[in-house]
Amino acid sequence: MIRTTTVDQERQLLLDELLDGLRRPQKMLPSKYFYDEIGSALFEDICALTEYYPTRTEIGIMENNIRDIARHLGSRCLLIEYGSGASVKIRLLLDHLRNIAGYVPIDISAEHLLAAVDELRQEYPTLPIFPVPADYTQDFDLPEIEVAFHRRVVYFPGSTIGNFTPDQARDFLRHVAEVAGEDGGLLIGADLKKDVSILEAAYNDTAGVTADFNLNMLVRLNREFDADFDLDAFRHRAVYNPREGRIEMHLISRREQIVSLAGEQFGFHANESILTEYSYKYTLEEFAALAAPGFRVEKVWVDAKRWFSVQYLTVRQQAMQDSHSW
Ligand code: AVJ
Repeated sequence: MIRTTTVDQERQLLLDELLDGLRRPQKMLPSKYFYDEIGSALFEDICALTEYYPTRTEIGIMENNIRDIARHLGSRCLLIEYGSGASVKIRLLLDHLRNIAGYVPIDISAEHLLAAVDELRQEYPTLPIFPVPADYTQDFDLPEIEVAFHRRVVYFPGSTIGNFTPDQARDFLRHVAEVAGEDGGLLIGADLKKDVSILEAAYNDTAGVTADFNLNMLVRLNREFDADFDLDAFRHRAVYNPREGRIEMHLISRREQIVSLAGEQFGFHANESILTEYSYKYTLEEFAALAAPGFRVEKVWVDAKRWFSVQYLTVRQQAMQDSHSW
């Protein structure tokens, strides 16, 4: 896979995606667009909120089971992290994996990535790190890995898989199976279905951090694409859609208004919304079925309340035979 796009082309692709979303009957913006510098910092604040249970629950599961997790991944694995942060989770793995061969962090924000890698290189001076600044939802090249390893293990924590629709998630998991390759694995965090009041509280925190995070999309559009969103004319709202099994984050227009972006006008009725994010929640059975074309579930770790799961999946031989391009 060869990446041939320039920065200008990438900007044009993003703009096309943004305009395309805003032209739809249900206006939408891509959730990956949340994560500029401010958005990434706000997301870290979200992770520390009392109402936002996923982060601390996932870390708790990892801490309680780190030995067993390390045993499943085995020795000398090449750990490939999708959407790497500067997180405690990766440090837990780096501290406990037996003879880890190398670490390949992939992140859409080159700046964020290289800063995190700088820190890790100081903390783990002997660990070979191969950073990949890329949007992992698009084609990307894995760097030449000049160390010997037993297996590739993709690490995809945080239930970010929930941002994909089930169809997208299936395609994505098939692509991950190809990257992990024969005998490869996937260590993944998946949020589970639970009481609606707990879910909705997690995405409508009383401090308003999630609201700021959501509204930052519009701040970013104003700055980067010369849009004229009036921030006081939109409010944040997250609702659980039980039929689809997902939290939906919306920005709701407080009044009838017209907004312009890149020379195009977009009309809003009062209470019309822009959908900014899906966060799907799964049962363990649903998740196993979703992963089944490419992966077999080897082991599932959960917390006492069964709110969140960390799962180790292994690539099916079958998936390798009928692998197709991502
Ligand atoms: C990063 C996708 C896991 O869906 O819970 C948190 C993002 N959005 N609060 C999630 C998010 C609003 C988060 N993920």
